Amino acid sequence: MSEKASIILDGKTYEYPVIQGTENEKAIDISKLRDQTGYITLDTGFKNTGATTSSITFLDGEQGILKYRGYPIEELAEKSTFIEVAYLLIYGELPTPDQIKDFQYQISRHTLIHEDMKKFFDAFPHNAHPMGQLCSLVSSLSAFSPESLNPSPSKSDTNLAVIKLLAKMPTIVSWIYKGSLGEPFIYPLNKMDYISNFVHMTFGRVTEEVEIDPVVVDALDKLLILHADHEQNCSTSTVRIVGSSGSNLYASISAGISALWGPLHGGANQAVIEMLELIRNDGGDTEKWINKAKDKDDNFRLMGFGHRVYKNFDPRAKIIKKACDNVLEKLGINDPVLEIAKKLEDAALHDPYFVERKLYPNVDFYSGIIYRALGFPTEMFTVLFALGRLPGWIAQWLELRDQKEPIGRPRQVYTGETDRVYVPISERK
Ligand code: CMC
Repeated sequence: MSEKASIILDGKTYEYPVIQGTENEKAIDISKLRDQTGYITLDTGFKNTGATTSSITFLDGEQGILKYRGYPIEELAEKSTFIEVAYLLIYGELPTPDQIKDFQYQISRHTLIHEDMKKFFDAFPHNAHPMGQLCSLVSSLSAFSPESLNPSPSKSDTNLAVIKLLAKMPTIVSWIYKGSLGEPFIYPLNKMDYISNFVHMTFGRVTEEVEIDPVVVDALDKLLILHADHEQNCSTSTVRIVGSSGSNLYASISAGISALWGPLHGGANQAVIEMLELIRNDGGDTEKWINKAKDKDDNFRLMGFGHRVYKNFDPRAKIIKKACDNVLEKLGINDPVLEIAKKLEDAALHDPYFVERKLYPNVDFYSGIIYRALGFPTEMFTVLFALGRLPGWIAQWLELRDQKEPIGRPRQVYTGETDRVYVPISERK
């Protein structure tokens, strides 16, 4: 007999099926609870709520395990390329040599953005935050792809939107960067691979030939793989919930970008570097800042520490820490904030406050130091996270559509006033 969970309410017992995932995680399916009992469940922040079943990414926060489509992140980061991982997430299998060639060819046909979109870049102030620009530009892609507006698109139109997004995102990101510098845009070179093309558009110049540094390409490739998906986090849940209303892929991803922007999510990579600089400029006393993070009357948090799901360690942070040392050494960079970061990490890992709450460095703690070493300004860090997360968001949006999930619509427990007497404005005091 299959396992059931019993709930006793007002002396009556109700039974609900237990769902088991392929990695043996268990969930109680309470979808009929309200119909049968009149009760709903309350779980602010969705700390204990499964919003969907998914076969894309598995994460075990207690063991520090992360797998995309069954492949451990460590192996993918070591052996794969970002574009292969994108294919894996979106289509479910690692590509054969012919499949990856075709995938790259399709992407290379769509790397240009409509020339009219250049006017949008001109319209933003030079100091506009890149994330604000990115979500507007990605949403505006729908205006140039009318076929995407069909709420029930054909398979080929959906795949076209997937390819267009993957192809145009690096162009948009690098042009946002160029726009911030007031430099001319560099057009994509389609003979290049995905990451090299992005580096070419970002660091290339119209006035001179700039060599593509393989250290930069390798580091970016790895970082983007590590960011490519992370199951039902804030931005991915946003993409799914927006997509569940029938919104097109561009609009759904644009909403995900907005969710990623926040400092508690992807915006943490920018916040980490700003925090490390603040500590350095303040004299480098890490103990003082650890104490501030522990003080409940102080709003300061150690950015880059803690995670909703990881309660052991973040496997991505382990890989990134190693990559960080490697990149700094290869590029011959001696970044003073790295010393602060190491002191902070060491102090926090031995402090009972952080140990008891299982607060470990997360993926964002070291990624900013690498992005900085590669030459990106701080405000671009979260945009790079978005570039990496794109295939994951796409895969999750496609899965939501394939599974024909109903519109996402949580309930609430109302705590406001009841039955007030309406007073006309002339009588209100
Ligand atoms: N510094 C100091 N205290 C912390 C921190 C921190 N970074 N993170 C959590 N805590 C404390 C928190 O005050 C609470 O203490 P208490 O139990 O005494 O009230 C306890 O730890 C649990 O924290 P929580 O806020 O209930 O945990 P959460 O799961 O809601 O939040 C988090 C997770 C990532 C938002 C949070 O740890 C945080 O704000 N970290 C800093 C921001 C950050 O680095 N975000 C990037 C996340 S990884 C990249 C991504 O996936 O986006």
